[in-house]
Amino acid sequence: MIYVSRQEHFNAAHKLYNPHWTKEKNTEVFGPCANENWHGHNYNLIVTVKGSPDPDTGFVIDLKKLSMLIRTEVTDKVDHKNLNMDVDFLRGQFASTENLAMGIWKILEPKISAITKFGRLYSIKLYETPRNFVEYLGE
Ligand code: NI
Repeated sequence: MIYVSRQEHFNAAHKLYNPHWTKEKNTEVFGPCANENWHGHNYNLIVTVKGSPDPDTGFVIDLKKLSMLIRTEVTDKVDHKNLNMDVDFLRGQFASTENLAMGIWKILEPKISAITKFGRLYSIKLYETPRNFVEYLGE
């Protein structure tokens, strides 16, 4: 098995705020992410596909197709958007990096299987900052 990855970027605004808590508790738990007037992050998204190379091409997946898929299905929907208000697949959820990564998995997993017979989605790695990131393996 070999693991093939594509990295994409997007910028988005959000806030983390639990409406059942006081402002003080929100600030205590979420820190600057609780700022009520929003703030942004430069997200870095790494999509990894696991498989074995197609004997006709040597590729597990055509990275041009994967890049296009990530752009049309994910980054076009979140780039320069407000994650709390503008993004259908996050509606009703906290705009955390965890929920965002799980939402991205749900969108991409069937679509990746549709563009290659030789691989399947292995992981979604999402950096909110260079030091804070999550990785989702679909379970
Ligand atoms: Ni934040």
